[in-house]
Amino acid sequence: MDKTNIVTCTAPVNIAVIKYWGKRDEELILPINSSLSVTLHQEQLKTTTTVATSRSFQEDRIWLNGKEEDITHPRLQSCLREIRRLARKRRGDGDPSVDSTGLSHKVHICSVNNFPTAAGLASSAAGFACLVYTLARVFGVEGELSGIARQGSGSACRSMYGGFVQWIMGKKDDGKDSLAQQVEPETHWPELRILVLVASAERKPVGSTSGMQTSVQTSSLLKHRAESVVPGRMVEMIEAVQRKDFAAFAELTMKDSNQFHATCLDTYPPIFYLNSVSQQVISLVHRYNRHYGETRVAYTFDAGPNAVIFTLQQHVSEFVQVVQHFFPPETNGGQFFKGLPVNHAALSEEL
Ligand code: DP6
Repeated sequence: MDKTNIVTCTAPVNIAVIKYWGKRDEELILPINSSLSVTLHQEQLKTTTTVATSRSFQEDRIWLNGKEEDITHPRLQSCLREIRRLARKRRGDGDPSVDSTGLSHKVHICSVNNFPTAAGLASSAAGFACLVYTLARVFGVEGELSGIARQGSGSACRSMYGGFVQWIMGKKDDGKDSLAQQVEPETHWPELRILVLVASAERKPVGSTSGMQTSVQTSSLLKHRAESVVPGRMVEMIEAVQRKDFAAFAELTMKDSNQFHATCLDTYPPIFYLNSVSQQVISLVHRYNRHYGETRVAYTFDAGPNAVIFTLQQHVSEFVQVVQHFFPPETNGGQFFKGLPVNHAALSEEL
């Protein structure tokens, strides 16, 4: 009888506080600078992926949020090829946990996000992290997988770990040293909270991949940032996280977001990810911090207008009230995810 093997896993979104923007190798997805992120709690913003293998499947296929997508996409192919290569290698090394019959079987992949896709909420990060992890479970592959997730989407390598995670850019041409690494575990800073203010759930006009390509080609500010700013910032950010120094963490986070968006403006033609709501959120955060004479709240924005806010547990309810006062839900059309706890184990298999 034909045996169908099915595995379902979930992976959370990560939010970069030192941004990745720009590649030195498009195919292997090797970045021009290191980056650092915080992985969200599983239950909040996540991707759930189911992979089935069966002898009766004629070809590999994938469905994203219920719609069949093109499996021949080069990044999907890289992930599938690399996982199958590792599985073959393990079998060759005599590992009995690798299902040798399943290796030749085709896969059907089904992936769903519980948040808007491609609205600058890091959907590709959770998506590829989840895909690689689930495929690895199906084929019995273990060990370092962030180098494979990276080949799906750069930021995905950071979702392979919980807590505070750095993606070390690496130096090698083959990308073997361009990997994610946990800086501090999920238990390190339990008071830290993340709020997501959804200013627009629409698809972003310029995707990260093509946006960063144009930036690399045209922005001298990006080159300066990658070579002269980020290396020092990575050191300072890791120290701030290790000391749990919120003011230092927050200021570096905001400055890095601002510089990333400055490089987008310095790109030719310029790329605008922030909208007027984003700009109002930035002003509000600075006014709020000024009011208290200390940095209690920080913002960061990826390739979209949605604000991700970092604060500490004791300030969540007051800041949420302030935001709701200035942005009542009916005027911004948005949605507010309140006080998400951060961190926790990055990936899990659902039983
Ligand atoms: C602004 O990882 O989506 O979110 O590697 O081309 O798939 P590709 O890009 P992607 O870029 C993320 C950019 C960012 C910053 C970050 O997450 O570090």
